[in-house]
Amino acid sequence: MKLKDKVAIVTGASKGIGKSIAIRYAEEGATVVLASRSEDLLASIASRIQDSGGRALALTVDVRRPESLEAVVRKTASEFGRLDIMINNAGISMVHPSEDLKPEDWQRALETDLFGVFYGCQSAARQMLSQASGGCIINISSMYGIIAAPMRAAYCASKAGANMLTKLLACEWAAKNIRVNAIAPGYIRTELVQGIIDKGMLPVGAIQKRTPQGRIGEVDDLLGIAVLLASDESSFMTGAVIPVDGGWSAYGYL
Ligand SMILES: NC(=O)c1ccc[n+]([C@@H]2O[C@H](COP(=O)([O-])OP(=O)(O)OC[C@H]3O[C@@H](n4cnc5c(N)ncnc54)[C@H](O)[C@@H]3O)[C@@H](O)[C@H]2O)c1
Repeated sequence: MKLKDKVAIVTGASKGIGKSIAIRYAEEGATVVLASRSEDLLASIASRIQDSGGRALALTVDVRRPESLEAVVRKTASEFGRLDIMINNAGISMVHPSEDLKPEDWQRALETDLFGVFYGCQSAARQMLSQASGGCIINISSMYGIIAAPMRAAYCASKAGANMLTKLLACEWAAKNIRVNAIAPGYIRTELVQGIIDKGMLPVGAIQKRTPQGRIGEVDDLLGIAVLLASDESSFMTGAVIPVDGGWSAYGYL
């Protein structure tokens, strides 16, 4: 129970990585606010957590709108008295030749993957600054915020921006007892990614070959670090961008 009595918000908790982090946090004793766009999916995950004896609340949010994130943080604070952990996980991916990328698509990706992270940090910090206990923020970025991948201009630029925001805000708020860190995953086998693999649309063999550990990541590979960063055991860690990618971003040979 490493997160006993903590209150956490997880954005993008309706599926994939966010859903798994939310369930794991509840297992570790946290009260979890599941925030995403899909009310039905969120409600069923909240019920699952409650049925196992945990505490969960489902709230809809659009991370592109600062007032929407602000409302989620306010509701969390009014229901549970505070906010200890903010996971800015919601994101979209976009693969397209840069010369033809439409301004509206570029904008949509940046609004979700970069602006959404900033608004999430901002709203969380406003609450955490009002608490003596401070809090911790974890941004889920990507290895593609560290190294470049063709045809992913909006995604790479957003994730690199999220990594820089992580460092900048960590420095800005360190003295105020707020820690800000990022997890930068490599390819992770979520239901969505498995679906793409099943349709033969992801070159799994080439990805495995390019990865020093020789495999695609599983969602479980992210949960340990997500718990560690949220717990008091990482109390001197802030401003860190941690790749969890089987060595992909470290590798620079042939
Ligand atoms: N799966 C991977 O291989 C991988 C690799 C690196 C980084 N990531 C990052 O991890 C995060 C989660 O990815 P995933 O694979 O679980 O994706 P996913 O598509 O399975 O889930 C994304 C979640 O974000 C939510 N979301 C999207 N736009 C939103 C918005 N405007 N407002 C509120 N919620 C919104 C969706 O509803 C969903 O709940 C993303 O930031 C992604 O970039 C994923």
